[in-house]
Amino acid sequence: MKILVTGGAGFIGSAFVRMAAAEGMHIEMCDKMTYAADILRVDSVKSSISVHTADIADTGAMDAIFSSTMPDAVVHFAAETHVDRSIMNPDEFVRTNVTGTATLLRLAAKYKIKKFVHISTDEVYGDLPADTNLKFTETDPLMPNSPYAASKASADMFVRSYIKTFGLPALIVRPSNNYGPWQYPEKLIPLTIAKALLGEKMPVYGKGDNVRTWLFVDDCANGILDLLKNGAAGEIYNIGSHEERKNIEVITSILDIMKADKNLIEFVPDRPGHDFRYAVETDKINSATGWKSRIEFEEGLFRTVNWYLDNKEWLLRKKSEVEGFVKALMAQYAKGKQSN
Ligand code: NAD
Ligand code: TYD
Repeated sequence: MKILVTGGAGFIGSAFVRMAAAEGMHIEMCDKMTYAADILRVDSVKSSISVHTADIADTGAMDAIFSSTMPDAVVHFAAETHVDRSIMNPDEFVRTNVTGTATLLRLAAKYKIKKFVHISTDEVYGDLPADTNLKFTETDPLMPNSPYAASKASADMFVRSYIKTFGLPALIVRPSNNYGPWQYPEKLIPLTIAKALLGEKMPVYGKGDNVRTWLFVDDCANGILDLLKNGAAGEIYNIGSHEERKNIEVITSILDIMKADKNLIEFVPDRPGHDFRYAVETDKINSATGWKSRIEFEEGLFRTVNWYLDNKEWLLRKKSEVEGFVKALMAQYAKGKQSN
């Protein structure tokens, strides 16, 4: 099977590319190479994949890639993905996540793609209250709260419309928070590791009691590969684990593994509109493909911390790139909800 993978130089897309290439799949990878990309992530399989540098919102460039490669399937990861950046500058999220997805869908229909796997997020459902065992199912309404989540929910609606109107054999995947090697250190786990290494204060939004469900990136990539092979067109599948943790618990566990000073924890003004808790039911993917998450959080976190310690130079180089953004963000959050 020949697959066009968008966003393959990103964190999850590259884990998928490494896994699919190892299975002998023919991979055509496309990425705009934004700040979040790094081609090093697919270095281990570079001789067996083709790389195209292109913006998914550029119809001409993407049409040229479809017509020259004629893929059987598309696995669409490319997106702007950081909630805090979407609060500071939502425009790029509309362009890539909404217009870019709509462009790909139009081309997928034009070139009669046999399967289109759209990577969405559990954040499209909105959030869950504290002290309940509620979890989102695939039929729950979309109630996005951040500009990031709103752009991903919009993209999901476009996918739905292409299924209904044009009969595109597309399916939607909604993973929970991923963690693991190669994640860009603007996100909680690698940022915490980098700051602990440097002995810098770790900004914890609000009281640190927001809850996320953590999924090891290889488990996620595996689930997406299973759905590419056996997921039904027209369907939506959540992917998640049972590993719910408060942010403060995640940070404390990292500091414990690294034997770092707990005084590095610094409570800072909360992210506006901060979703309290995400959790998803995963019975549907389990029934369809037999998939379930395998890597327990304690094991995955230990492996993750050690990977970053072994790849310190990469981590600290990327961390230095985000310093200016984090400083501006903290100043903005300190001002409260007014937009810039
Ligand atoms: P990432 O930010 O690490 O990578 C995104 C990739 O998309 C980058 O390589 C970037 O260069 C590329 N990209 C951005 N704009 C582009 C454009 N206009 N054209 C082509 N390429 C472009 O993201 P990630 O964490 O790997 O997330 C991948 C997908 O999974 C996204 O769709 C995201 O919404 C979704 N998701 C992520 C998580 C998570 O915890 N990371 C959880 C659920 C869902
Ligand atoms: P993040 O990794 O940005 O993922 P998402 O917002 O998509 O869930 O953040 C995970 C959680 O950690 C979220 O509740 C926000 C919080 N957080 C902090 O408290 N401090 C930080 O510096 C960052 C980046 C996140």
